[in-house]
Amino acid sequence: MDDPGRRLTPIIRMAPAKLNLTLAVIGRRPDGYHDLHSVVAPLALADYLSLAVQPAGADSLTATGFDPGLSEDNLVLRAIARTRRAAAGSWPGAPAAPPALAVRLETRSDAAAAIDGALEAWDTTLTSDERAAVALEVGSDVPLFLAGGAALIEGRGERVTPLHGVRDLHGEAAAVVLVTPAIPVRTAEVFAAWSSGAMGEPGVARRTSEHFASEFGSGLSVSRLVERAAVLAAANDLLPATLSLHPVLVPFRRALARTLARPIGMSGSGPTLWALYPSIVQAEQAAGVVDEAIERGLIGPPGESRPFITATAIGNLDAGVRTSSS
Ligand code: C5P
Repeated sequence: MDDPGRRLTPIIRMAPAKLNLTLAVIGRRPDGYHDLHSVVAPLALADYLSLAVQPAGADSLTATGFDPGLSEDNLVLRAIARTRRAAAGSWPGAPAAPPALAVRLETRSDAAAAIDGALEAWDTTLTSDERAAVALEVGSDVPLFLAGGAALIEGRGERVTPLHGVRDLHGEAAAVVLVTPAIPVRTAEVFAAWSSGAMGEPGVARRTSEHFASEFGSGLSVSRLVERAAVLAAANDLLPATLSLHPVLVPFRRALARTLARPIGMSGSGPTLWALYPSIVQAEQAAGVVDEAIERGLIGPPGESRPFITATAIGNLDAGVRTSSS
């Protein structure tokens, strides 16, 4: 009989990155988390996670590429540990525990891919409620990745309403340049700084986010989305908090805005900064411009190593993947 713990072919999972186009912090909750109102778009940025069953030992994770988030939190390993516990009774090898996995991460990844990849490696499933519960336990934004697609995120991150997103009339995709400085931003510290007063004018991000959620809900053309860049870039309530903790980002963001002549937004609690473009070709050109400006010393990047710069389309993974990294 087959040993259910033996899978020779690694399972490959693609983990879509996301972009917070708006992020309003509504307030601190009794449980210490914050209620949010955030419009999120999926990115075609392809991150690969491969998982193979290990004959012995513990789960292991190796990574290639630049990922400043990795040292801070090991979400992938946490996701696998929690998924193992949830699937222990139902996988084909029960009552033995699902075996250790060797996980290889290429550039950035996310925990939702690890949950589904682990279930597939162990040849089992969970109900969607069980998967959602595991996801929220691992992190507030993990339920979003299970859902996929453009979405409005509310509550701590568990209320996910799918939105139409970008209406692709002419086969064009909106695109974005992402610049991630090599500085360790800790989400919990950013929320704490917000709570102690490092916030913008109350209500502004929320009004933009609510209005934009209704627009994005019924579908927005590429050009309309790009026209909204300035108002979206100003609709992140965590920006003042992140900038207060990492003042080096202030001149860097200004330098990017000057170099690209575009509004520069920040995704989530940072440090990834974004600029919107009406096509992947233009976004790739812009990524090249930033790369060269840093190379020639025209922009002094914060952090000890160079930022991670990439151009990617905004959209669902099944709409086709296109990435470039400089
Ligand atoms: O849930 P996750 O582990 O991603 O959150 C990291 C930290 O960010 C939390 O410990 C909390 O301090 C903060 N957070 C928050 N409100 C949210 C999401 C995260 O305060 N909705």
